[in-house]
Amino acid sequence: MKKRVIDPWSSDLPEDYKNIANKFGLERFEEGDFPNPNILMRRGIVFSGRDLKIISKCIKEKKPFYVLTGIMPTAERLHFGTKSVIDQVIYFQKQGAKTFVLIADLEAAATRGLSLEEARKRAMEVHIPCYIALGLDPKKTIFYFQSENNIVKNLSFILSNRATLNEYRAIYGNSEPSRIMSSLLQVSDILHPQLERKMPGIIPIGIDQDPHIRLTRDIAKRAKEFKFFLPSSIYNKFVPDLQGDLKMSKSKGNPLYLLDSDMEIKKKISKALTGGQKTLKDQKKKGGNPDKDMLFELFKQHLIRDDKELEKRIKDYRGGKILDSENKEYATKLLQDYMKDFRKRYEEAKKDISKFLIKS
Ligand code: TRP
Repeated sequence: MKKRVIDPWSSDLPEDYKNIANKFGLERFEEGDFPNPNILMRRGIVFSGRDLKIISKCIKEKKPFYVLTGIMPTAERLHFGTKSVIDQVIYFQKQGAKTFVLIADLEAAATRGLSLEEARKRAMEVHIPCYIALGLDPKKTIFYFQSENNIVKNLSFILSNRATLNEYRAIYGNSEPSRIMSSLLQVSDILHPQLERKMPGIIPIGIDQDPHIRLTRDIAKRAKEFKFFLPSSIYNKFVPDLQGDLKMSKSKGNPLYLLDSDMEIKKKISKALTGGQKTLKDQKKKGGNPDKDMLFELFKQHLIRDDKELEKRIKDYRGGKILDSENKEYATKLLQDYMKDFRKRYEEAKKDISKFLIKS
């Protein structure tokens, strides 16, 4: 049997989250693990992580910790999967974490051929303003570009002697130089806050990024002189695209983007995969299946914040009281309303974006 590895650079995805969690020794996330859980935590979208207890302890005892994530600026628009990651970052920021969000421009250059100039442009015009519009507090967030952060680059050089090629092959099933460079850089992205202050840190990311976390933890363990806390991580399920493909990817399917226009929203929602029956009569008699319905996925992950309202809609859909057309209309309205506010916050954030970037 072929050995299973997760390849963080591919867009194939794990079908069975539980198997993945077991196979790679992830902890299961339980709703009660953290105080004031957000909706992704309450609704099972956040499903696992590593070393979650130490972070929950920091929150409860008000001890210092950090949250850090990084995103490649390859996409020209952000899909809702990125929103889920930023929602997690915002949650930890609100619980008192020192916050870092980095633009993985070097990784994008090495693995996707995106120029640093183009990456910068996309980050400044789209990505960073969108993160702020999602609710990240710019005054409390350290944004940086990998290409401009010498501390991070130096650390990745220094730590490179703690990894071996065999380890790379075992973790990634691949050992191309560009990937080696990118993952070592990611290791130091993740650990560098501890150069200034030793404290636990949590990394919210997609499950496809877990190999990087394993590598980081291995290297941190071996680099004894640094006395690093091993980084924790927290994973959310992917936001399926509206056609039901698991990972919203830019190239195929019917992904929804932040900043989509009213028309785009309407069109995309109208073509969404639903859990409805073939005929109206059947739907009323047998009811729909919300578990196979992409609109419910959207309601659950992003659009309906009130638990009672969501439960009622699920029940009514199962009971044949709600038809696909009504769901579509409602999803369109909620999204258009959301986007109207979002766009305002985005334009606001874009105006004073340069204030929020530091060079090091
Ligand atoms: N590899 C990540 C991606 O594909 C980006 C990334 C770079 C990152 N450095 C990081 C993510 C540090 C989390 C933490 O999008």
